[in-house]
Amino acid sequence: MEQTLAILKPDSYAAGNTGRILAHLEAEGFTIRGLRIVHLTQEQAGAFYAVHAERPFYGSLVDFMTSGPCVPVALERENGVKHLRQIMGATNPAEAAEGTIRKQFATNIENNAIHGSDSAENAQIELAFFFSSSDLIAAQ
Ligand code: CMP
Repeated sequence: MEQTLAILKPDSYAAGNTGRILAHLEAEGFTIRGLRIVHLTQEQAGAFYAVHAERPFYGSLVDFMTSGPCVPVALERENGVKHLRQIMGATNPAEAAEGTIRKQFATNIENNAIHGSDSAENAQIELAFFFSSSDLIAAQ
C-alpha cells in the first residue's frame, strides 16, 4: 500500500465537483485516509509550489490556488502515486486521455481540477503539509 496526496483544486470545489471526483477516486480503489477543506493563503500556496517558483506561471498558479477553497485528500492504494497520476490525466486537459479526471473536470492547464504527488518521496512531504499523522485514519 502506498500513500499519496491529491488536492481537488479551487475550480473543482467552486463547480461542485468535489463529490464526483471523490467517488471516482474511491471507485479506482483508493481509500480516503484524510480529508480537509482549506482556503490557502498566498504564503501557503507559494510554499506548497515552491519548486515552481522560477516558472513564468508561478504567480498565476499561486493566485489560482488561493482563489477559493480546495480539498486536500490523503489517499492510499497499491501503487498509489503512479495510479493517481494515471487517472488524473495529462496536466493540460486538452492532452488528457478520455475518462481521466482532468478530461472530465478540468478547464485548462491552470484550472486543471486536481493535483497529485509525483513521487512517493514528495507524497510524504506533501501529506505532511496538510495533515499531521494523528489526522490520518490508519488502515482497518
Ligand atoms: P499541478 O499538478 O498541481 O502542478 C503544478 C501546476 O502548475 C500544474 O498542476 C498546473 O496547474 C500548473 N502549470 C503547469 N504548467 C503550466 C503552464 N505552462 N501554465 C500554467 N500553469 C501551469
